[in-house]
Amino acid sequence: MEPVKGLILSGGKGTRLRPITHTSAKQLVPVANKPVLFYGIESMAAAGIIEIGIIIAPETGDEIRAAAGDGSRFGVAISYIEQDAPLGLAHAVLTAERFIGSSPFVMYLGDNLLRDGISELVDAFRSEAPDALILLTSVPDPEHYGVAELDGGGRVARLVEKPKQPKSDLALVGVYMFTTAVFEAARAISPSWRGELEITDAIQHLLDTGLRVDPHVVRGWWKDTGQVQDMLDANRLILEDLAERVEGELHDSRIEGRVVIEPGVRLERATVRGPAVIGAGSRITDAYIGPYTAIGDDVEIARAEIEHSIVMSGSSLIDLEGRIEASLIGRNVRVGRSPGLPKAYRFVVGDNAEIAIL
Ligand code: G1P
Repeated sequence: MEPVKGLILSGGKGTRLRPITHTSAKQLVPVANKPVLFYGIESMAAAGIIEIGIIIAPETGDEIRAAAGDGSRFGVAISYIEQDAPLGLAHAVLTAERFIGSSPFVMYLGDNLLRDGISELVDAFRSEAPDALILLTSVPDPEHYGVAELDGGGRVARLVEKPKQPKSDLALVGVYMFTTAVFEAARAISPSWRGELEITDAIQHLLDTGLRVDPHVVRGWWKDTGQVQDMLDANRLILEDLAERVEGELHDSRIEGRVVIEPGVRLERATVRGPAVIGAGSRITDAYIGPYTAIGDDVEIARAEIEHSIVMSGSSLIDLEGRIEASLIGRNVRVGRSPGLPKAYRFVVGDNAEIAIL
């Protein structure tokens, strides 16, 4: 078999992560202080895939390019392929046809996270050589995904994209392995009700033409980080496996559990209860950082408490009563108290933001 190539889809609008995605690509939202996209690149590198194409959208492409670069720091070679309009995952595959050439390939949705990586699956794809291999996992809300029905023998019988009445709870995970047969299938299908060429329909077409599509049920956890709650869940799951490392300076401060404190951090009269990570250059003063929290670089937290949250670089949380939890705070955000009277809330908040006050 020719070497397997990688295709990562990193376009899309990220509508369900607004307002964060008004200014930044959803694939660059950090999970445990690392952009979601990097987990996908790293799992491809770990599976021995060195030629990776990343599909980008015109709006966020430059930012993705600047973040992932030529791939050398991951030990891979990255090419960028622009998809001019978000016309679906099967359309993205067709956009990458020249890059893929005659190679088999792994397609990976750039906002997906798979705990156990893809090495075992790529090996199975190489050795068993089906025409396609799909990953499945049981979910409580299959109507939001592509859904697979298996027959009595465990073979794929039918695939339906976001069925109103799902016939199984097996969702298609956003990682697929294909041979070049998928190009013909993607050309044969028509757009769905949402106006997109669905990869699910293209795979169904492979089945309809008698080709072999192997299912693999994922054992470790999988997350599609399309929504805020998923982001926070992914952050929690990644932090669960954190290896402790404390750099930076501690003054009258306490650290409990597994915590990563990057260089240049200054903790003063602070308590950090892991698992948690605090990015380089951040200052935490008279504050409490609780479990499942990822604080980015150059963040300032003073006289405030926070847990189970993501705070991105350059933000500050100052003089807050009560604890912040389950929050996703973007870059360079200021949350604070204004002096004097009248005592009032004051907001300068972007479109589609969400604020909950007790
Ligand atoms: C896409 C696919 C769907 C799959 C999901 C996995 O959905 O169309 O079949 O289950 O990714 O993340 P979308 O994110 O476009 O709604």
